[in-house]
Amino acid sequence: MSAVDMRVRIGDLELRNPVMTASGTFGSGREYAEFVDLSRLGAVVTKGVSIEPWSGNESPRIAETPCGMLNSIGLQNPGVEAFCANDLAWLAAQDVPVIVNVVGHSVDEYAAVAAQLDSEPVVSALEVNISCPNVDAGGMAFGTTCAAAAEVTRAVRAETRKTLVVKLSPNVTDIAEIARAVEAEGADGVSLINTLLGMAIDTRTFAPKLARGVGGLSGPAIRPVAVRMVWEVARAVAVPVIGMGGVTCAEDAAEFMLAGAAAVAVGTANFVEPSATLSVIDGLERFCAERGIARVAELTGAAWPERGKRET
Ligand code: FUM
Repeated sequence: MSAVDMRVRIGDLELRNPVMTASGTFGSGREYAEFVDLSRLGAVVTKGVSIEPWSGNESPRIAETPCGMLNSIGLQNPGVEAFCANDLAWLAAQDVPVIVNVVGHSVDEYAAVAAQLDSEPVVSALEVNISCPNVDAGGMAFGTTCAAAAEVTRAVRAETRKTLVVKLSPNVTDIAEIARAVEAEGADGVSLINTLLGMAIDTRTFAPKLARGVGGLSGPAIRPVAVRMVWEVARAVAVPVIGMGGVTCAEDAAEFMLAGAAAVAVGTANFVEPSATLSVIDGLERFCAERGIARVAELTGAAWPERGKRET
């Protein structure tokens, strides 16, 4: 038993620690299982799952950038039926909470996936993805107005009693108003940020580096933007916030929690170091122990002005 209580709550869900994987950076966990004991994670958040199989965008769909990467995968996935038969069946034996990222081209498609997953006992929670910038229909298009974000949340909420998290886009003027809109429709939590829309051009060929032209920027380059948005959202809603965007070490995770996140997700860092999640968990526990913090949850919002400065 650790001296630090690492447990946190997201809706009805109790996690053994606040560190989860970011959707799209960890598959369903199977590819990482030789590097990571999944049962040590707070949760596995799966790649986006749609009602039918999606083949994704043309290659190239990955490009390195200073302190980060661009991707334009396009939510490639085998569809909910194959996902349940293969990935969920495998995850059922892993002793880790499973949060399934849900995507759709239309409100009805989101709702249909949610309805199907609602009857799967191994699914602990749904993360509704209204923030992927890499698809022409659905994705971010639902996350950039309060009305659309509310409509998707309402439709999914009607299909499931499971813990419902909505993943928000940073490509908006006021992310807090989108968070308030999904909270009002019954979201149990929000996760942020998804990637920032970006672009890179090859100066040898004069062509965009991604076949689709634009893609989503992730990694440490976006962390200050993400921390700022977590701060704004966590102060605007009552539901828990899952913070992400360039988490590579325990101090990064602590920064998100100090800004108001109840939990954090590790994304791009998994591509650099497959066991990054484990060093964040161990480091966060050490971070608390060294400062005499008994419960990791005490970090949440501890940087807010009304809490006062910590004596060092
Ligand atoms: O293109 C993609 O598959 C990315 C997904 C996301 O940003 O949610």
